[in-house]
Amino acid sequence: MGFYQDRIFPWLCQKAVRDYDDERRAVFGSASGRVLEIGFGLGTSFRFYTDSADEIVGLEYSASMLTKAEKELDELKANSALSSKVILIKGSATNLDFPDESFDTVVSFLVFCSVPDPELAASEIYRVLKPNGKLHFFEHVLAADETLAKWQRRLNPFWKKIACGCNLTRDTKSLFLRAGFSFENFKEYVHENSMKISRQKIQGIAVKS
Ligand SMILES: C[S@@+](CC[C@H](N)C(=O)[O-])C[C@H]1O[C@@H](n2cnc3c(N)ncnc32)[C@H](O)[C@@H]1O
Repeated sequence: MGFYQDRIFPWLCQKAVRDYDDERRAVFGSASGRVLEIGFGLGTSFRFYTDSADEIVGLEYSASMLTKAEKELDELKANSALSSKVILIKGSATNLDFPDESFDTVVSFLVFCSVPDPELAASEIYRVLKPNGKLHFFEHVLAADETLAKWQRRLNPFWKKIACGCNLTRDTKSLFLRAGFSFENFKEYVHENSMKISRQKIQGIAVKS
């Protein structure tokens, strides 16, 4: 998987995630205080943070994504106020090496589809958030349309292999509720500009109560 994972997948990922500027503006623009971004990938979202984020800790599982994101960050730093407030580290959302209640906001953008143990990741995020801390999210999930959902279930084993562990069939809303979150706002919709197979999206803010 080495060459595919290091070279081909980042390229595919870049194509797959490029059309979401409005969603990134909404999800990242309102992240405030001390922020943890899980699975930042190529760093596509860094430019969408605003002054409301005081400190941003980016956590990414893939070493090749991390290297590419560091380049993206260096370019941004030259022209923006991001300079001293972002740090990038390698790690997994399923094992967060941070004390309890240490972040105001956690951001997850198209990550819960590919985390191997999403229940554990949700409980780790819950743990590191301060009371009333917020998880800002945008994720693709199992389709509401039964015909499409059937195709997602059929294709999932193959899809997971070619898309480095990405699942088409996750029910991430239920997962967040089971972890203890309640929703400050939540919408589920068909994102018409997405690939048909992953166009069912959820977006919103889950609160640690
Ligand atoms: C589809 S990409 C999305 C990247 C980025 N959030 C974006 O919007 O462009 C999913 C990312 O999640 C990362 N990822 C998967 N499992 C992870 C984990 N357990 N912890 C942290 N990152 C993870 C992958 O390496 C990949 O970079």
